[in-house]
Amino acid sequence: MTAATLTAHPSGPLKGQVRAPGDKSISHRALILGAMAEGKTEIEGLLEGDDVLRTADACANLGAHVTRHGDGRWTVEGQGRFTEPMEIVDCGNSGTGVRLLMGAAAGYPITVEFTGDASLQKRPMGRVLDPLAMMGARAEGASPGRLPLTLHGGGLRHVAYRLPVASAQVKSALLLAGLNAEGGVEVIEPEATRDHTERMLTAFGAHLDITPEGPDAHGKMGRRIRLAGGQTLHASHVIVPGDPSSAAFLVVAALITPGSQVRVDGVLLNPGRAGLYDTLIEMGADLQILNRREESGEPVGDLVARHGPLKGIEAPAERAPSMIDEYPILAVAAAFAEGKTVMRGIGEMRVKESDRIALMAAGLEACGVDVAEEPEGMIVTGYGRAPLGKAMVETHGDHRIAMAHLVLGLGAEAPVTVDEPGMIATSFPTFRALMAELGAGITEARDS
Ligand code: S3P
Repeated sequence: MTAATLTAHPSGPLKGQVRAPGDKSISHRALILGAMAEGKTEIEGLLEGDDVLRTADACANLGAHVTRHGDGRWTVEGQGRFTEPMEIVDCGNSGTGVRLLMGAAAGYPITVEFTGDASLQKRPMGRVLDPLAMMGARAEGASPGRLPLTLHGGGLRHVAYRLPVASAQVKSALLLAGLNAEGGVEVIEPEATRDHTERMLTAFGAHLDITPEGPDAHGKMGRRIRLAGGQTLHASHVIVPGDPSSAAFLVVAALITPGSQVRVDGVLLNPGRAGLYDTLIEMGADLQILNRREESGEPVGDLVARHGPLKGIEAPAERAPSMIDEYPILAVAAAFAEGKTVMRGIGEMRVKESDRIALMAAGLEACGVDVAEEPEGMIVTGYGRAPLGKAMVETHGDHRIAMAHLVLGLGAEAPVTVDEPGMIATSFPTFRALMAELGAGITEARDS
């Protein structure tokens, strides 16, 4: 029996203190760098979501010894290289997993077949395959730039590549390929994106040269990253901080549910990831950040969110890369705020696990929210009160669309139901348990 739908009911105050689950971006990278490195990498706090578990399987398939020792405690014994896999590498729903693995695999003289689920097969891979082809890797598949495909790696040469879209996945894929390219690689990102790969490569003993780029005509600041080829990674110890993209659902649930006070401990506050929290504070959210500290080379803090009034704002477009996964839940916060919240410069949302602009617009509208969809943005108008809710929302198998609407349902006037809730486990397998611990009323209906 599988859960067919989940329903969030208007809930009483949410109260409590929880830990955010491990960061998804850092979890993927810990496994992949561990598998590329020589020696035994120890990982604590790994996110055991479906996306990351696919990457763990892929790393084993590519020649590493990957062992789970207990809750979030894993070791990866790498051989200092990938070996040709016996099986197809199936990354499931994970864009990060497949794009980083393709970049890493391209550096070795091996042939690897990559695939993914129906959503991943629709997502653009050319953004990674095109620059990898300039370096000398070759991909073939029935549909160019799409999974499934076969990648032939090895014999890579240097490229200096300016990213046409702000994407940490593309940047990371090229850096991982560059480790094994003659002459290394140079990546220029016109807008700074999350820098977990750069930080973790350094922790695994690689040397990178990073210089600022910009500002450009739009005031955007980027970076130029140079990495010499022929560098061997050495095993490391990674403590994975809490995922700010998952914590966002708990925080916004508290902000919109009357009487709530919720504390989420150990949240990653890397500036490349914390844009939502700056935006919520600008909206007037009662959100405190306590105990700012550094853990495993990343800034971390504890968040305390209390229910209170929010006001609509214009979210600065240049902040988009630091909160690109958080616009669905920001749109939910905006639905409870007084006034217009303008979100622009977010065309990338259309090529995530689903077309998130279209699905948020449809879902919010079904919940009685005033929303205007634009080609590269959306505008939500709130009236400083709870929207109606009372909707059945189609998620198209997108975990963040599901969680965003469930959070809306907690603060709405009437329940909100989402389909395909099983997909929540790709990024936040403990979502329901943590929500229940905080007092949220989320129930499930099953197929018989
Ligand atoms: C990620 C980068 C972002 C983000 C994704 C995780 C990463 O994607 O949306 O969830 O871990 O590098 P893009 O690189 O496509 O912007």
